Amino acid sequence: MNHLALDEAARAILRKNDQGGYTLPTYGLYPYQWNWDSAFAAWGFAQFDIDRAWLELTTLFSGQWPNGMLPHILFHKPDPRYFPGQDVWDTDGKGPIASSGISQPPVAATFARMIYDKDPQEGRAHIAALFPKLVAWHRWFMSWRNSDGMIFITHPWEGGRDNAPDWDSAMQAIDPVGVDAYTRRDTAHVDASMRPTKEDYDRYIWLVQRARSLGWDDAKVAQDQPFKVADPLMTFVLLRANRDLAALADALGEDRRELDRWTAELTTGAQGLRNDAGVFDGYNLNLGHHAGTVSNASFLCWFGLVESPKMLAELQEAFADSRYPVPSQKVGSGSFNAKRYWRGPTWAIVNMLIGLGLADMGHTAEADELRARTAKMMSEHGFAEYYDPLTGAPAGGASFTWTAAVWLAWASPSAGGV
Ligand code: GLC
Repeated sequence: MNHLALDEAARAILRKNDQGGYTLPTYGLYPYQWNWDSAFAAWGFAQFDIDRAWLELTTLFSGQWPNGMLPHILFHKPDPRYFPGQDVWDTDGKGPIASSGISQPPVAATFARMIYDKDPQEGRAHIAALFPKLVAWHRWFMSWRNSDGMIFITHPWEGGRDNAPDWDSAMQAIDPVGVDAYTRRDTAHVDASMRPTKEDYDRYIWLVQRARSLGWDDAKVAQDQPFKVADPLMTFVLLRANRDLAALADALGEDRRELDRWTAELTTGAQGLRNDAGVFDGYNLNLGHHAGTVSNASFLCWFGLVESPKMLAELQEAFADSRYPVPSQKVGSGSFNAKRYWRGPTWAIVNMLIGLGLADMGHTAEADELRARTAKMMSEHGFAEYYDPLTGAPAGGASFTWTAAVWLAWASPSAGGV
């Protein structure tokens, strides 16, 4: 297929997964609105339908809780075929619509800025409406998920990288006694070898039950949840998003000082995510140690406008080790598994964020290389949820919204380069 046919195929995926005001990640496996998936979808839509892009973000923020938290799943229409559904989360009365009780990586402000920049006239009313909501969400992170300028997560799903090795020590420390009986639905759609294990799942559900027993109280969850890991992806994404929100503040004539303070705090805090080898990785706050891994999140430093010669050297290794980088776990490391979700496979969304950061920091050759290899992977293997980094074989769900969006907005030759 030439790239114009691929552009059309990617647009068709977005249209097919479109439910009116929001877009499913893919049918079957993920039948609701997911937080960061939607932000990527909006950026994809913005390549051919700006109104639809703004609608995606507006619908996403319609689920924001009064405390500022923006849930990771909005259960717009019940679907009994999904687990864990709203009955398991039991967040009734916490937000305006049924939702999960945790958040997800805050990429929305960055894409709101990019969509606004495409057409400021059309976008002005939209950013005026979204601005206070975005600030409230970022403030929630800075209040309840902030440890000395490192952003931590209280559940692996909050970080968006469900079974990343960054969480292993925190997960192993949990004994999931008392987890209610449940039936997984994900493995009915995708081969179990590509998904988290039962040991992971027991702990995912146990952690949901525990936060639920704390009444989803922000202070109690932040203090008492046994799973507390500072996350490079969360920290760099929020750092970047704060800068983008500050740019939107300027466009609107709003006060940006609070945002600038957060940016400064996170820029300093991010250095705490460097492990002994100089790589940014997960830091287990309860046990006080780093994971000692190189993941695709480690390469998001540039997206947060943080320079790192060490990570540039690691990137060259990733280019050498895998035909389709960036693997979510370093090839050859003990925890690498080419198929299992966030323990090896390449994710196009993370590649785009890494590529945007590389370009912003002047690493144009690396940005071009990453974009070219990502484009090749997609043109040979379609728009999958994730890919085997060694062979490019598609894995997980098919016809995936955010992968199609990344093609349209970044990887496709029509996107015009980084
Ligand atoms: C998986 C991913 C998460 C994503 C969701 C929907 O749980 O790990 O990042 O948001 O699927 O695509």
